[in-house]
Amino acid sequence: MEMRLPKAGTIEIVPSILSADFARLADEIGAIESAGVNMVHLDVMDGHFVPNITIGPPVIARLRSVSNLVFDSHLMISEPAEYAEAFVRAGADHITFHIEAADEPRKLIDKLHELGCTAGICLNPETPVERIKAVAPLCDMVLVMTVHPGFGAQKFMPEAAKKIAQVREIVGPDIRVEVDGGIDAQTAPVVVSYGADTLVAGNAIFSKSDPVAAINAIRHAVQ
Ligand code: DX5
Ligand code: ZN
Repeated sequence: MEMRLPKAGTIEIVPSILSADFARLADEIGAIESAGVNMVHLDVMDGHFVPNITIGPPVIARLRSVSNLVFDSHLMISEPAEYAEAFVRAGADHITFHIEAADEPRKLIDKLHELGCTAGICLNPETPVERIKAVAPLCDMVLVMTVHPGFGAQKFMPEAAKKIAQVREIVGPDIRVEVDGGIDAQTAPVVVSYGADTLVAGNAIFSKSDPVAAINAIRHAVQ
């Protein structure tokens, strides 16, 4: 199976459908495709690891049939290893799991690679970078949360964003560093200056009447 995560070296704006209209997901994804993005961020929540519940493999499988974007699946769930295979089968191209939820992160990264999927590890705002130091270099992308996971449209946490620079130092230039939470045209240049290259944005894109213009505004801010 081909690995579809774009190689490091480009800035990718990755719309999160969490703030999209869930009754019109295919249309909403079609709109961001027309803006020329390569990836879409799919937030999976289990009501256990985080206090909210969103979508799972059946929804991702249906979206797979209407979109060729790279599916960046952010698993905010307990026991991610139990469900990894179901998400790959549904059509996830990249799977990020939380270090706080994984007993054997190294094993799960290997499993994802064996399944033909790129692997990502994620840190909550209060989790020190030290926790992922050993496994981050084995991943294809590391995700730094700049809000507490669970909900869209929260306020950007500037202190948490500073960890991006530490992560970049650990992984070097060839592994993507993604940031998620409160990213808009104001905060995007800040996280890029710390070394982020993959910018998730939900509210800043889908709460706007013109999502394409909103994507272009973020792009423009980081160019
Ligand atoms: C938060 C999710 C995010 C969320 C970001 O728990 O992981 O991906 O969609 O939304 P904004 O961009 O609105 O902060
Ligand atoms: Zn997310």
